[in-house]
Amino acid sequence: MFEHECVPFAPSLIESMRSLGYSFPAAIADLIDNSISANSKNIDIFSEPSKDPWLVILDDGTGMSENELYEAMRYGSSNPLEKRRENDLGRFGLGMKSASLSQCRHLVVISKQYHDICAYSWDLDYVIEKKSWMLKGFSEEELDKYPEIKRLKKLEHGTYIFLGDFDRIKESTSNISETFNKNLSEMNDHIALVFHRFIEEGLNIRINELPVEARDPFLSYHPATQRKKESSIYINNERILLKPFILPHLSKLSRSDLDKVGGKENLRTNQGFYVYRNKRLIIWGTWFRLERKDELNKLARVRVDIPNTLDYMWSIDIKKSTATLPDIIKKNMYSAVYDSVLGSENVHTYRGRKEKKDVDIEYVWEKIKNRDGYEYIINRNIPQLRLLEETLNDGQIKMLDSVIKTLEESFPVLALYADVAKGNIEEHKTEEHKEEIETIWNELNKQFEYIKANNLPLVRYYKAFQKVEPYCNYPEIKERIQKEIEKYE
Ligand SMILES: Nc1ncnc2c1ncn2[C@@H]1O[C@H](COP(=O)(O)OP(=O)(O)OP(=O)(O)O)[C@@H](O)[C@H]1O
Ligand SMILES: [Mg+2]
Repeated sequence: MFEHECVPFAPSLIESMRSLGYSFPAAIADLIDNSISANSKNIDIFSEPSKDPWLVILDDGTGMSENELYEAMRYGSSNPLEKRRENDLGRFGLGMKSASLSQCRHLVVISKQYHDICAYSWDLDYVIEKKSWMLKGFSEEELDKYPEIKRLKKLEHGTYIFLGDFDRIKESTSNISETFNKNLSEMNDHIALVFHRFIEEGLNIRINELPVEARDPFLSYHPATQRKKESSIYINNERILLKPFILPHLSKLSRSDLDKVGGKENLRTNQGFYVYRNKRLIIWGTWFRLERKDELNKLARVRVDIPNTLDYMWSIDIKKSTATLPDIIKKNMYSAVYDSVLGSENVHTYRGRKEKKDVDIEYVWEKIKNRDGYEYIINRNIPQLRLLEETLNDGQIKMLDSVIKTLEESFPVLALYADVAKGNIEEHKTEEHKEEIETIWNELNKQFEYIKANNLPLVRYYKAFQKVEPYCNYPEIKERIQKEIEKYE
């Protein structure tokens, strides 16, 4: 055996590392993670969306000594397998470099600790020129040209990050300042959501001096929000905490409440688990495919707190924006909240009261009163559907339900209304024409055959069919069913 060190070629690797897939807001959030891990109380973002935009993040955290900063600039400054402090949001030793340079070509980090200021920079063009991992270092006197740097000088300790030469954005648009402004506004919304718990606990994040307001996705401050009982699941002795919330009904939400929960039109897509790692939101608005994003559950959101000691379980990615949880955790989370949230009357009550006309008849369409008016849904209790449910597997039942929902949602209310008003359609009259009776009886017999073929309780089903539309409307059919029942009783 012999050894031969194989050092990565800096210009290629540093360029490839830019393509991890960070969005602009996710990149800035990664830098804010670092400020929070350094115990900052104030984080200021300054930016000028000019033709050559720049962005600065200044925090009043612990800051770094020159040696610490030098090590922090290194790609892979720490081992992802190392145990981290409980409130450390980092993991890979990459974020500061890869997040910044995913957006721009020029990163300068200036830090102050015990009154000493130090500064290093990754400049992609310089790395290409030198063909090596060559940092640029600056003395304190060379720093005055950086915007808002005086503010760092006034602090006792803190860190200042300058991002310049946003080549990717420049290449993507003909109107840089407009696109940059749009990015800043998305960044504002993203920060307000993913760091809402830190902001609620007193962290100040400002963008060009304007405070970012927390976007609490559970509206937990709202008197009409239902807070459900917290529950825990344990994975390898580590605790995952689940706290379900049911948002108030739409009629109780103000404009600003609606903004916080992502807008009225997005309520349905935003339902689900909100998973936090050390109080920092990582994934949100998903039931991990264990439940459909149903209209019925659109007000349900579950806060999930996972400690960073379980990082190894959920293959968190470098951007901290996607994470895959093992199936076992997902399933445990799902069953922990099923009864209180998804199966809960509380979510379902808005569905309202059934407007039943005759208790002895199972109507196919049910008129339901909800808070917004009425809706028509297909009665899932009719024997035609029940016998299918008894014979299909779980996946097929879900599919069936989804087809029924599609039918319900696409009910042509207005067209029907217009046609009835014009007299084009009349209510179906059940006439005792021999021909019609025979057609219906034949149709019904197919269902009887199905019941027999699947060994389902025959008499119970016959009785149920006597009471359901359309059969209950035909005395002749009811009688024929009765005769069948007598054969078996
Ligand atoms: N704002 C800051 N204040 C103080 N120290 C910082 C700051 N930003 C970065 N550091 C130091 O630099 C190190 C490297 O940061 P970097 O974001 O690259 O990696 P990380 O946070 O350790 O892990 P990850 O890649 O998961 O973000 C951090 O571990 C921290 O010690
Ligand atoms: Mg980091």
